[in-house]
Amino acid sequence: MEIYKTDKEIATVNLVPGTRVYGEQIINENGKEYRVWNPHRSKLSAALLNGLSKLELNKDSTVLYLGASTGTTVSHISDIVKNGRIYAVEFSPVSLRKLSRLCKTRPNIAPLLNDATKPKEYLNKVEKVDIVYCDVAQPSQTKLFMDNMDLFMKDDGQGVFMIKSRSINVNIKPKTVFKEQEKILKTNGFSIEERVKLEPYEKDHICLLVKKAF
Ligand SMILES: C[S@@+](CC[C@H](N)C(=O)[O-])C[C@H]1O[C@@H](n2cnc3c(N)ncnc32)[C@H](O)[C@@H]1O
Repeated sequence: MEIYKTDKEIATVNLVPGTRVYGEQIINENGKEYRVWNPHRSKLSAALLNGLSKLELNKDSTVLYLGASTGTTVSHISDIVKNGRIYAVEFSPVSLRKLSRLCKTRPNIAPLLNDATKPKEYLNKVEKVDIVYCDVAQPSQTKLFMDNMDLFMKDDGQGVFMIKSRSINVNIKPKTVFKEQEKILKTNGFSIEERVKLEPYEKDHICLLVKKAF
């Protein structure tokens, strides 16, 4: 994965030099322009800074991204998978409109106005992918993540699952919620390769790296 690291921050090589996506800081070094990847704005940046190490994201990777919003995290993945493709699913028309503007300068992002709980509706628009990324903050997040992995993830692919415990149950301790969701994933044929908490950037969230279990 091509990312630039200092002690405190990470950054990606800007695919569209001279442009910012969400007001992020730009750094010029070694003849390259980097966009600082803000861990308070992107859970993937938080997870990488907190030690996520087994994610295989390279310049040719294909990604199905569920819960793309306006494209903050999608834009950094777009920097990394410069020759690959990101299928960015979002069900809010307002967010998708902003995301579509981003796609005009970043041809490796395909915006899809769809509900991620109904993956069969975009079956004819999305290929089998290397990574299924899920950040939807919904009570049904584990089921929709598994349904999308079943339909779209290559056998040797990886799932990245950002779980927000409060979206599932506010009355149960986050630790218990995370354990329950892991159990559901394992019962349905997946294995947990890595788990990383997102504090201090995001409270009561965990990032799971998931694979198909054989
Ligand atoms: C926490 S935000 C995502 C932030 C984004 N991943 C980022 O890091 O830049 C969750 C997004 O998921 C979207 N969402 C929630 N449920 C969805 C669903 N069933 N299908 C598609 N998008 C959904 C919301 O509209 C919202 O934009």
